[in-house]
Amino acid sequence: MAQRTVYLETFGCQMNELDSELVAGQLRALGYAFTTDSQSADIVLYNTCSVREQAEQKVWSRLGELKSRKQEQPGLVVGVLGCLAERDGIDLIKRMPVVDVMCGPGELDKLPSLLDNAVRTRLEGTESETGKKKEPVSAKQVALQGNTSRRSATLAAAEDSLELLDLSRSVSPTDHGGTAYVRITRGCNKFCTYCVVPFTRGAEIHRPPEHIIDECKRLADAGVIEVTLLGQTVNHYRFEHGAAVTLGGIVQPQKGRAYTGGHRADPFRGAGVTTFADLLARIHDEVPGIQRLRFVTSYPRDFGDDVLQVIRDHPRICRYLHVPAQSGSDRMLKMMNRGYESSEYLEFIDRARSSLDQPEIGRPLMISGDFIVGFPTETEEDFERTIQLVERVRYKNSFIFKYSPRPGTVAFDKIPDDVPEDVKRRRNNTLLAVQARISDEIAREQVGRTFDLMIEGVSKQEQKRRGATHGQIRKNNAVMLTVGGKGMNPDDADSGCGSGCSHVHGASETESGIGSHDETVQLAGRTDGDLIVFVEARSETAPAMIGRILPVRVSSADKLVLRGEVV
Ligand code: 5AD
Ligand code: SF4
Repeated sequence: MAQRTVYLETFGCQMNELDSELVAGQLRALGYAFTTDSQSADIVLYNTCSVREQAEQKVWSRLGELKSRKQEQPGLVVGVLGCLAERDGIDLIKRMPVVDVMCGPGELDKLPSLLDNAVRTRLEGTESETGKKKEPVSAKQVALQGNTSRRSATLAAAEDSLELLDLSRSVSPTDHGGTAYVRITRGCNKFCTYCVVPFTRGAEIHRPPEHIIDECKRLADAGVIEVTLLGQTVNHYRFEHGAAVTLGGIVQPQKGRAYTGGHRADPFRGAGVTTFADLLARIHDEVPGIQRLRFVTSYPRDFGDDVLQVIRDHPRICRYLHVPAQSGSDRMLKMMNRGYESSEYLEFIDRARSSLDQPEIGRPLMISGDFIVGFPTETEEDFERTIQLVERVRYKNSFIFKYSPRPGTVAFDKIPDDVPEDVKRRRNNTLLAVQARISDEIAREQVGRTFDLMIEGVSKQEQKRRGATHGQIRKNNAVMLTVGGKGMNPDDADSGCGSGCSHVHGASETESGIGSHDETVQLAGRTDGDLIVFVEARSETAPAMIGRILPVRVSSADKLVLRGEVV
């Protein structure tokens, strides 16, 4: 088979970015090539997000654009991967016949064979026929869970082949910019009433600690120095070794169990159970090559003191917590089924700050959050409580979203979306402005402090200045232009959590032309508390700085942008 070229664009969260990386690795190993230019691709894949409607709209418009192209290039294969595929199912193909392949996030291990079948049908079949006739849905290549239970129901009895996708991760020494994601859990059992994730990603499962640690070691051997552990509720991680099932020589991931630890340490810690605290400590101690260990996302309940203790005692674990509150109103939290009241949330924040906030040693604790405004029946008073919570917690940044009713969720079915769009927009802008002021204050407090800065690459601004297109901008080259990162800028209201943004997986991503002349280049780096700092470097020394941790003194903070100098 001639080499096929793939264009893979990723929408949404970090979990999707990791999925795309794993899929790309697997396809590369099978001989597919990748391009950042969708026009020259034989196969166009979109790895989609359906957390909010806005994220879905982008995919619909991309698919719409492909309609006429497919007339001219009947051999083109179009695939929709991820949460939108899972949520819409076959309806998606009915609405968009341009789609040949659909693959839910729980079935990505099957993508190579689906794609192979689709390529054979379209590229190697009788092209004159395929392009003109409307194919029946049965001719499409589809792998969906269909409902959330398949994997969880069969987990103990059937090999979890999706785990093989994580295990097969190919790590090239050049491809990562020093940072990488590692999944520790998949899915979610929380069923917040507004959220599609439990339906699209399925029930929560926890990967065996040995698999996670081995992956971290392989990444470290390939030069990765910063690992971000991923899960919807990472602090619920728990692996009971006595209950482990091995199939085909591979320890299987384990179903998440109800966790009722509160803020106490898990009583079973050390007794055949690897808790989240144990996992952090083990990665820290067993993989010294990883100089920074971070994790997202934390659930505000059941975050034990044992985890805080481990973070405090292990210097390479970052002082950064992403702990979504969603609202400051107890009435809203109850309707959202979040399982805590604002006082409990604040108790956790205070506990975390008293244990981890150490600005005197250059390690202030930085906290970021997520909020939904305009959830059904939200009053001005409810909203006011959210503002008070934001003021009280002093988040480094917040991802603020207007409520978006999602088909299939409890809120969609049972609670009318009754807050008018203009009210949602106003509350969104008001909260963004409050957050921007706090972020600005926090930024100014950092001036004069020296931080260990992980230099991630040429800043996005600099790349744009040098003429890089959106698709060419490297994922790891610090996309965030503000101290708080994405979603904090009032002009950028709905782009938090990456859903307003997409990334292209490519082979031709270069360092975007760091010049060899006597000029400076703006690099972007990150403190262990996730603050973005820009550093000017001479172009000949800049490449050697990327991927390293350097001491940087913050010299100015202006409109949320921190600048610093290497000391
Ligand atoms: N509408 C708006 N925001 C949502 N989120 C999840 N579901 C919805 C929805 N239906 C937000 C939450 C979550 C983040 C990933 O996306 O704030 O923490
Ligand atoms: Fe969605 Fe709630 Fe699970 Fe987060 S914890 S993924 S908001 S259901």
